[in-house]
Amino acid sequence: MTTALTHAHTASASPAAIAEGGHLLRDGRLVAFPTETVYGLGGDATNDRAVAAIFEAKGRPSFNPLIVHVADAADIEALVMVDDRARAVIARFWPGPLTLVLPRANNSPVSLLASAGLDTIAVRMPDHPIARALIRAAARPIAAPSANRSGAVSPTLAEHVAESLGARVGLILDGGPCRVGVESTVLDLSGERPALLRPGGVPVEALEQALGATLIRPTDHADAPKSPGMLASHYAPSVAVRLNATHAAPGEALLALGPTEGTLNLSPSGDLEEAAANLFAMLRALDRPEFTGIAIMPIPEHGLGLAINDRLRRAAAPRPA
Ligand code: TXA
Ligand code: MG
Repeated sequence: MTTALTHAHTASASPAAIAEGGHLLRDGRLVAFPTETVYGLGGDATNDRAVAAIFEAKGRPSFNPLIVHVADAADIEALVMVDDRARAVIARFWPGPLTLVLPRANNSPVSLLASAGLDTIAVRMPDHPIARALIRAAARPIAAPSANRSGAVSPTLAEHVAESLGARVGLILDGGPCRVGVESTVLDLSGERPALLRPGGVPVEALEQALGATLIRPTDHADAPKSPGMLASHYAPSVAVRLNATHAAPGEALLALGPTEGTLNLSPSGDLEEAAANLFAMLRALDRPEFTGIAIMPIPEHGLGLAINDRLRRAAAPRPA
């Protein structure tokens, strides 16, 4: 297998491909890899150039802070300051779809660009053997946003990454479909009170139970979005999106939930975990010029429905000019 790549190639994640991925990452190149949530666009989190290459590849309008991924929970000790609250949720939810925002450690090797200049760093241990094997092969923390161009829906298949980022990535490791299908929950433990910055794969209710505390919710501090990823219209298909639809208008596609005929159905049985796993792939499948828009049926506002509605509200938000 060659490492002098001019175009991305997609490889099934054999040990040889993972080893090549580790080599590319140490070289400052980008490698897309599967996690249990969505595919990540990985770069060496300790290398500013590699991190800049991530923003470049994503075409982000600004430097949103990135999540730094580790293979073992103990590996965050050198990066961030870990308190008892963090230890409690780590013991319960890692590896898994939970990202923790913690104060940057003294002498943390993480690129400041990766944290967009903040004095905090977001860290996560993904629950995916290919992700962890790749991070181990790189032997350094890996910064990885979702592996899509900025503003596009997050990729849950290797083919989505190839479509969205193509030649901008050195290597795409194919691990099949992502199990969870929505991004990790982002929990800010850098302040006195724990705050939810982004709903995601770990339900808020489970976090509140583990912490024995109510989380500050995004709506509680909506006028000062601490997580730039929370900005409206971050997850937008190119056709218009209409929420809480009961049926499709002429020309619209209908994305259904529950026992209804739709153009596509997130979950005929109304299972919100199944709906989350299908969400991005179905939005992408319906994001076609032959439709005037995508009409989406109401999603219950509990459990993973919170994360789904969060993404959908963003997809339906007015677009920046
Ligand atoms: O499931 C996931 O989290 C995926 C996979 C690849 O791990 N990654 C992902 O990364 O969704 P990204 O870059 O698309 O989203 C990172 C989120 C954003 O909302 C960002 O603003 C927030 O984490 N974030 C990162 N660092 C932060 C920090 N220091 N303070 C506050 N928010 C932060
Ligand atoms: Mg993203």
